[in-house]
Amino acid sequence: MQLILLGGPASGKGTQAARLARHFDLEHVSTGDMLRQACAEGTELGLLVDGMLKEGQLVPDYLVVELVLDALDQAPKCFVMDGFPRTLRQAVGFDVILDQRTLALDAVILIEVANQILVERSTGRRIDPDTGDVYHLQFAPPPAEIAARLQQRDDDCEGVVVERLDIYNREIAAVIDHYQQREQLACVDGSGTPDQVFAHILDQFSRQQMEP
Ligand code: AP5
Repeated sequence: MQLILLGGPASGKGTQAARLARHFDLEHVSTGDMLRQACAEGTELGLLVDGMLKEGQLVPDYLVVELVLDALDQAPKCFVMDGFPRTLRQAVGFDVILDQRTLALDAVILIEVANQILVERSTGRRIDPDTGDVYHLQFAPPPAEIAARLQQRDDDCEGVVVERLDIYNREIAAVIDHYQQREQLACVDGSGTPDQVFAHILDQFSRQQMEP
């Protein structure tokens, strides 16, 4: 199974991709996580993109496509893409990658959440640096004993979130159009709880008869 999850900043792509990966035994491929790891390790790529991530700017398409190519070389053929593609150019590049590997997408899921909720979800997100677990101060509160060590992502301060949201809204229409024309796009209401959103996604799959 090959899936793409689209959605605005903090729409719940990472949360749902992790669940889908467990449920369907898929590789969770997150370009955001790979880029943050490169920054944390201070690799050549990390040094190049660190400022872009902190400012909420998109990393150039050719770098992200290269990253995805590397990830797919190491991953099995079943995956859920989280945060890629984000531009029409990336979507077209991904079509070529899939064709070359004789892979076809099973579904492209767009998680729809209102802008105001996206800002709340971003600014309240906290990460456990020891486990990588993601919490939210209000919606997914951490256990009291780990609260002190939690960290906020550099790009989760309100000013940068608004910039990320602007960029998302500018770029995503062409990506949506691309997958709509191919009749691969399914829209899911992402405003409920994580359990409700996951149920909506599975519901879309059962309508398309994709359950394993
Ligand atoms: P990336 O990490 O992909 O950032 P993003 O798209 O802005 O998405 P997020 O990771 O912020 O959120 P999410 O949708 O995964 O939500 P989550 O599940 O964590 O990319 C970061 C940066 O890398 C980009 O800005 C760019 O610079 C670069 N980059 C990455 N990919 C790129 C690409 N393809 N091209 C160019 N540049 C690229 O949830 C968020 C919070 O909400 C959490 O606290 C969670 O607990 C909570 N939550 C989740 N679901 C719910 C729910 N249903 N109800 C209540 N709370 C919820």
